[in-house]
Amino acid sequence: MDKPAKIAPPKGKLGVLLPGMGAVGTTFMAGVELVRSGKAQPVGSLTQMGTIRLGKRTDNRSPLIRDFVALAKLQDLVFGGWDIFPENSYEAAARAGVLEPHHLKEVKAFLSKIKPMPAAFDRNYVKKLDGKNVKKGKTKYDIALQLKADIANFKKKNQCARLVMLWCGSTEIFLAPEEAHSTPEKFEAAMKANHPAIAPSMLYAWAAITSGVPFGNGAPNLTADIPALLQLAQEHGVPVAGKDFKTGQTLLKTVLAPAFKARMLGMNGWFSTNILGNRDGEVLEDPGSFKTKEESKLSVLEYILQPHLYPQLYGKICHKVRINYYPPRGDNKEGWDNIDIFGWLGYPMQIKVDFLCRDSILAAPIVLDLVLFLDLAQRAGMRGIQEWLSFYLKSPMTAPGLYPEHDLFIQLMKLKNTLRWMMGEDLITHLGQEYYD
Ligand SMILES: NC(=O)c1ccc[n+]([C@@H]2O[C@H](COP(=O)([O-])OP(=O)(O)OC[C@H]3O[C@@H](n4cnc5c(N)ncnc54)[C@H](O)[C@@H]3O)[C@@H](O)[C@H]2O)c1
Repeated sequence: MDKPAKIAPPKGKLGVLLPGMGAVGTTFMAGVELVRSGKAQPVGSLTQMGTIRLGKRTDNRSPLIRDFVALAKLQDLVFGGWDIFPENSYEAAARAGVLEPHHLKEVKAFLSKIKPMPAAFDRNYVKKLDGKNVKKGKTKYDIALQLKADIANFKKKNQCARLVMLWCGSTEIFLAPEEAHSTPEKFEAAMKANHPAIAPSMLYAWAAITSGVPFGNGAPNLTADIPALLQLAQEHGVPVAGKDFKTGQTLLKTVLAPAFKARMLGMNGWFSTNILGNRDGEVLEDPGSFKTKEESKLSVLEYILQPHLYPQLYGKICHKVRINYYPPRGDNKEGWDNIDIFGWLGYPMQIKVDFLCRDSILAAPIVLDLVLFLDLAQRAGMRGIQEWLSFYLKSPMTAPGLYPEHDLFIQLMKLKNTLRWMMGEDLITHLGQEYYD
């Protein structure tokens, strides 16, 4: 495939629209404001801190990614979104309890001005939540049209040149693709008929895509990962990425599992458990929402270890994932992993990982990178699923029939090679024969 003909420059303001302005959303916005006012470093963000090697190892060309590709500047980002709770983003951030008081104080004036628009919400899809800041309409289609109007008004009011939407809302119940998701026409008819296959997150995705706005999904909900919306994304020239931010336990899983496979070490089991006390943890107590998350967390090992190719090593793995809502921990999750592996002659070994992490601190830079890269992709004329953004996601979307690549380092290589390809630079294969000729 030829490289994109021309990447439009990132002129003007980029509006960032978040359905769901809770712990992750507010930590992201607060962080951008602290970074652009010179009060903090964008730690964890590849777009802000990462470099990219170009040419040969002997060329010494490793510019910052943000100097290599034309990304929107942090100064040009403006924020908005929707939530079922009417609190402004300062109040929501204070409630989420992620940021220390001194940081909260510094962003109080900025966050207080960001007020969520009434949400498209239905308790049937997130059973543990109930809020008053919710849109009314006879049909799901009416609500989706209201979201489209919100998008247009936000763009006009804030004089944005471009927009990106990223779902940072709660995890909805598990849904499988079905007939109502198969074509744009059937999807629209299903919205008009209030069909249960249409979840609120899908209304946001439909509104964004049909408004020409790139859409990303930070939760494991099905949302845009259905033929109807992917076809619309093609038709409207819209890039999409999802699903589910890869932040803590799964990030480590997709680092460790490729190492065992690379060395042909076998595995009998992997037990992962978590305690967390934020609202996300509370939502995930509902079996419907937990199933969506569980599917997302479970799928990675199967794809990385390829038991069909290595039945002696990975044919009988017991893989379990548990999430326990434990309020005292707030957003500071603890994730334990017990891994039972075996080596030469089948001798067993164990590995224990105890990651005392901060959920939203890990997620916020991913939100930033996805926003900036989705905007870049659109300016480069790339549409539909952006598989090169799998690096950030636990359940990467792929073309039909293609298995997802979960190995973090393959994902990183794919991401960087995509940037090189976009800019007409040589891809890096790591062959390196030329150094020894
Ligand atoms: N933090 C992480 O490490 C991480 C990793 C992967 C995925 N996620 C996912 O990101 C999402 C956000 O996480 P969080 O910790 O910010 O949760 P949170 O509960 O603090 O925030 C989610 C917000 O979404 C709102 N919401 C729910 N349904 C909505 C709707 N239909 N429209 C508008 N708003 C809606 C809720 O009211 C809440 O304020 C969750 O789905 C979570 O599973 C988080």
